[in-house]
Amino acid sequence: ATRGGGIGIEDLELAASHHVLDLAQLAEVRGVDPAKYTRGIGLDEMGVVAADEDVVTLGASAAERLLARSGSEGVRTLLFATESGVDHSKSAAVIVHGLLGLPSSVRSVELKQACYAGAAAVQAAIGIVARRPEEKVLVITADVARYGLGSSGEPTQGAGAVAMLIGADPSLVEIEPVSGLYSADVDDFWRPNDSTTAMVNARLSISAYKNALLGAWDDLQEQGGPSAEDIEAFVYHQPFTKMAVKAQQFLAQRSGAELDPEALVQGAVYDRRLGNTYTASLWAGLASLLDHRPGLDGARIGLFSYGSGSAGEMLTGIVRPGYMSSARAGSAVAALDGRVPVTVAEYEQLHENQFGSSEDVETPRVTTAPFRFAGVQGGARVYERNS
Ligand code: HMG
Repeated sequence: ATRGGGIGIEDLELAASHHVLDLAQLAEVRGVDPAKYTRGIGLDEMGVVAADEDVVTLGASAAERLLARSGSEGVRTLLFATESGVDHSKSAAVIVHGLLGLPSSVRSVELKQACYAGAAAVQAAIGIVARRPEEKVLVITADVARYGLGSSGEPTQGAGAVAMLIGADPSLVEIEPVSGLYSADVDDFWRPNDSTTAMVNARLSISAYKNALLGAWDDLQEQGGPSAEDIEAFVYHQPFTKMAVKAQQFLAQRSGAELDPEALVQGAVYDRRLGNTYTASLWAGLASLLDHRPGLDGARIGLFSYGSGSAGEMLTGIVRPGYMSSARAGSAVAALDGRVPVTVAEYEQLHENQFGSSEDVETPRVTTAPFRFAGVQGGARVYERNS
């Protein structure tokens, strides 16, 4: 039996990279005023992966902690959303399925549309649960954001994962059936198959984000969705947290509602420290809001997902009473606080040494996370539980 009849997020868990770079240090080395990063774009730190980490290890770590707390009973689908996948054919989902020791009776697949794929995975999961409410879906969003050294996007790199359990009796957020949609073919940000760093037309990316936000909002209104006055709090995709402030301003103008940009602070605590986590960014924002803002019991929230290229979706959800959890919040803070700082020189070296090729290699043993990328053998990537 469901409590409210709605399908949504039962639980969620965040994982961070092994390393972290203080953006004040990057600013100093790049000759930039640190306030440009902390206030201008709204980021304090960025996650940096160790040589034996990637989206598979980040996603598996988040999922393992999630399932340890909430159980895997009923899980028959694993959807892995990422735009920094490790193979053009084999999905990260199948590898995580193996690492977690899930039964063979679990379908496993990877989804891609830049940062938007996480929302697509959540919607696909809801569809699966709607057909058979006794089933649950494990959704993993994980990314490593990489731009060129010294590029304008450099301070907006990052790494992290959020794993979510989607089910018919959600303890956290019930996702409402109507959402606002927007798709348009735009070259604002992309990563060619032979490149490990993203290419971006920065100004176009901001206007493409705005167009997707307003287009999705207009569609939500046309579909009979709630007005801005009926939404207590918004969480936006946060490539850098100032983007959420801009988004709130765009939406206030479009809807005519008074939307307070200061109200976004509680949804930005984790993203300020992770940097851009692409598919995971919105869900890290949701985790941050739920961990820092009391009094949302029964309130409606808006969740805007944007993926360059471009796709946008405005979802709304009803927060379930008793959503705050010190165990969940403590786990997120432990993941962020537990990261090992690197100097700018160390970060630059790690940035150069990404093991993306099919040449055989053994990676150095660095991460203390539950799983690690051990290297490439016979052209195939090898993962193992960290002993
Ligand atoms: P920039 O051009 O170097 O920075 O990089 P800027 O000159 O635009 O300054 C940024 C802000 O800092 C400005 O504030 C300045 O005023 C302020 P704003 O006017 O925007 O409010 N500022 C200062 N503030 C305090 N003290 C100072 C100071 N100096 C300046 N001393 C840019 C900004 C966005 C271009 C860069 O970060 C970038 O290239 N980022 C990558 C692209 C991106 O994130 N685009 C966002 C939309 S697209 C998206 O979200 C999708 C994405 O996640 C990918 C996907 O979908 O897969 C990227």
